[in-house]
Amino acid sequence: MTHSHRTWHRPSRLALAAALVIGPWLAAQADGGDEPLGVERAVTLPAQAKGNPPAWAGKAFRQGVVAVANPYGAEAGAQVLEQGGNAIDAAVAIAYALNVVEPQSAGIGGGGFMMIHLAASGQTLTIDSREKAPAGATRNMFVGVPNASLQGVAVGVPGMVRGTALALQRFGRLPLAQVLQPAIALADQGFAATPRFVGSPNCTSTSATNRAFNSPLVKDYFCPGGQAIAAGTVVTNKPLAETFRLIATHGADCFYKLDIAKGCDIAQGIVEGQTWNRPQAAGGKGGSMTYADLEAYQPAIRPVVEGTYRGYRIKSMGPPSSGALTVLQILKQLERFPIGDASQGYGFGSVKTLNVMAESMRLAFADRRDWMGDADFASVPTRGLIDERYLTQRSLLIQPGAVRPGLAPSSDPRPFEVAGLQAQPMRNVALAGPSMENGTTHFSVVDKWGNVVSYTNTIESGYGIGVFAGYARPDGSFRNHGFLLNNELTDFNTTPADHPYIVGAIGANDVVADKRPRSSMAPTMLFSPDGQPLLAYGSPGGATIINSVVNITMNLVDHRMTLQEAIDAARISVAGPGATREGGVTLGTVTLENRFPAATVDAMRALGYNVGSGDVGSVQAVLIEPRTGKQYGAADDRREGTVIGLPRPRGR
Ligand code: GLY
Repeated sequence: MTHSHRTWHRPSRLALAAALVIGPWLAAQADGGDEPLGVERAVTLPAQAKGNPPAWAGKAFRQGVVAVANPYGAEAGAQVLEQGGNAIDAAVAIAYALNVVEPQSAGIGGGGFMMIHLAASGQTLTIDSREKAPAGATRNMFVGVPNASLQGVAVGVPGMVRGTALALQRFGRLPLAQVLQPAIALADQGFAATPRFVGSPNCTSTSATNRAFNSPLVKDYFCPGGQAIAAGTVVTNKPLAETFRLIATHGADCFYKLDIAKGCDIAQGIVEGQTWNRPQAAGGKGGSMTYADLEAYQPAIRPVVEGTYRGYRIKSMGPPSSGALTVLQILKQLERFPIGDASQGYGFGSVKTLNVMAESMRLAFADRRDWMGDADFASVPTRGLIDERYLTQRSLLIQPGAVRPGLAPSSDPRPFEVAGLQAQPMRNVALAGPSMENGTTHFSVVDKWGNVVSYTNTIESGYGIGVFAGYARPDGSFRNHGFLLNNELTDFNTTPADHPYIVGAIGANDVVADKRPRSSMAPTMLFSPDGQPLLAYGSPGGATIINSVVNITMNLVDHRMTLQEAIDAARISVAGPGATREGGVTLGTVTLENRFPAATVDAMRALGYNVGSGDVGSVQAVLIEPRTGKQYGAADDRREGTVIGLPRPRGR
């Protein structure tokens, strides 16, 4: 087994890598003459990775814009646009590049949702590359498994490789092999480790649930010798470069089918990797994925789910994601309040505004818990859940100035979906709450033709199950494929539950073979009332993704902020039906980012909320000004958000 972190030995090779991949800022650092082999050398990081004020803020472009949570990912997308690629080509390049430079968040071991708006036809659609449960998965497979999200049983059949290949085949301009080049060069020749790359694994933690330490190989890659890597150190991932080359040469099937004659052995690394039975925990459990599960995996092209907020049209990701339905519910329930009007006590950040936002989130998350899941398997009333009459009724449950005690109730939207049905009361069954995680990444792209991509991609938790795909060769050496396996299946209800409204049905998000676990990912686009695309945006953050999208939408529509102001502003999130602490029991939490003043936190506590803190999400967005066609980008300093607009100003 080899670990792939190395010091920067050969400036001349790095100069080549920098010129090809990393861009002018790093190329300038890469002409330092001959260094003796083995001498560690730090390089200067891209400016945005150091939290410097972004030079691009507020600038308009016409040849395309990428907004990505990592500077190298942004550079990969910009290069592909400069080579004549469209937004779809750039998005695929970014997704692969992020697997190298932000591997803890997303990559080919996982899946995601790519929303595409095609300028020529005006069509907006999504490509669903969400992971699936293997055929051997059972409803009870997580019961009694300790730390299930660190076990092989949590690994879903990965979707990104076929999802991105489908996107390119249907909507791209460039071949897969070309689009993969920036990622291959980054993995092979290295990149200067960013503060987030080196800071995400807690190398001093002795916690048994430290994901980055779940397997020796992963620990050694992210914390070689148990030490954190210094920011700026050049890091490679040669095994991943080799994996990418196999895909570039033989196509997506090389990932999904074992074909030793061609050298396609990635499937063996996935199937054997997901048998991981965490040795630290008694009762660990490997996964049941087979070669047949991998071969059978197919992405799906799905229509968007859409609705309106104050006249603006919002398109987002429907089932198996809960993203669109929950975002639209929260917003629609708030439409009757004059959120933008400070003279009535509302306005950005006022307690009155935060109170009704929190209550609306709680109601929507109650419906999400009971009704949302993979609609290929569960009966999800997608029209009823966002029907205006239904949401008007639901909104009446929000009382400004009051905090609902206990858990917010769900309701039965089916009469708004199918005429003549009667709403049923909720039965007394328990369903698991939403999951939280810190993996996942979101980026947005617009090209010079006006095609737009909004793409959220994930391996679920940071570092997934903390295991690289790979297998032991007969000679005892380890064949490492260099990418992390997801733990997406713990997005299912890990404790099975009967459906609370449909007698005889299982929970909408219970595990079923071949089903996709419910997601919160919400790649979103906002359109003008006359249907012009204005904005592509989204966020990581588990269930809080939904609330990040809600915050940004309201900041723009209600509070009339600029795009960068909307992203920078403090966010509120409630990711479940509870928001209080009662009788010594925590029923839920209102997260208020510490960008809010302390007085706001105190006032929300005084109202009765259980208030927590912490960052909420990382939003990357592109905006098109419909009258002029000018393009803008904005990104999030909660991670290493970077915007590159084209044509590049001199010196960038
Ligand atoms: N892994 C994050 C989500 O699907 O919601």
